[in-house]
Amino acid sequence: MKEHHTKLTLLSQLSDGQFHSGEALGEQLGISRAAVSKHIKGIQEWGVDIFRVQGKGYQLAKPMQLLDEAVLKAGVATPLELIPIIDSTNQHLLNQADSLTSGAVCLAEYQAKGRGRRGREWISPFGSNLYLSMFWRLDAGMAAAMGLSLVVGVAIVEALEALGIEGVKLKWPNDLYYQDKKLAGILVEMSGQAGGAANLVIGMGMNLQMAAGSERSTSAITQPWTSLSEVTGESIDRNQLAITLIKTLHRALSDYELQGMNGFVERWNRLDNFLGRPIKLIMGPREVYGIARGINAQGAVLIETEQGVEEYVGGEVSLRGA
Ligand code: ATP
Ligand code: BTN
Repeated sequence: MKEHHTKLTLLSQLSDGQFHSGEALGEQLGISRAAVSKHIKGIQEWGVDIFRVQGKGYQLAKPMQLLDEAVLKAGVATPLELIPIIDSTNQHLLNQADSLTSGAVCLAEYQAKGRGRRGREWISPFGSNLYLSMFWRLDAGMAAAMGLSLVVGVAIVEALEALGIEGVKLKWPNDLYYQDKKLAGILVEMSGQAGGAANLVIGMGMNLQMAAGSERSTSAITQPWTSLSEVTGESIDRNQLAITLIKTLHRALSDYELQGMNGFVERWNRLDNFLGRPIKLIMGPREVYGIARGINAQGAVLIETEQGVEEYVGGEVSLRGA
């Protein structure tokens, strides 16, 4: 954390979106202009767009609202850590799973090794999105984790709807989509079993302000994606949204422990991005083409093929529009 202190202070000075001269920035921090320039390069490597204009100084491409640990802590009842620069919020909680209580949260501004399903990379530029993980000890054990990840996705979309954000859908098993573009992803990981219980970490990455063609890093995203600001047409209070999502996750996980997937199929199917549309399921070398028919009571994805309606489960299945 200490090693990043100077860069984080520079960012909070620049966050207003105004020009700041290298000299003024350096003076405030007690460092030289050359040192400021070096730190700015480091900040750019975190995926932040900063311009330098001769005679004016440095400016962010757009103003940035930073996460505020005090605001976040005041807004939720669970233990919470904001670690601005991290490898992965999921990994951080997995590392300490034995000492955590259910509901413990870790948030970051930048992930150097954010990850998606099956070890793929989750692009995590500084300050423009949300990277949020929650620890949960699930007494029902690992077998129940699949259902849990579906339930979490539905709860998050319903929470967005409650904020007046319409049109966000789900792609099985747990991606959030808007107009056929990926808005957010959920990754549930397990750190081992304690007795019969499973130590789970539920991680969510939601794009808020990530703009196409700006941060260099977004070119590494291999499929259509979008950001919440494109859905709403305005910027979002990141701290308030994080608080809402943490409360939503906590409630969804508590409810799931009590009710499992009871009454869940209808909630899912209403939000299914592909319901009634042609899709393909990819399982390693195998592909199945058909029409998406939502999920069944166990959370398996249903696809109607010439052979009838088939069901598929498991972490190795990927769904694509066809
Ligand atoms: P699945 O295989 O689970 O159906 P998926 O193709 O969406 O889903 P994952 O295995 O979850 O993929 O891997 C992450 C995917 O998300 C990759 O395709 C990656 O390019 C993309 N991605 C990475 N970062 C972001 C981001 N910030 N926003 C949107 N998409 C991203
Ligand atoms: C997906 O592949 O769709 C899931 C993406 C999950 C990304 C989030 S960001 C917070 C948490 N930490 C990680 O390293 N991954 C998850």
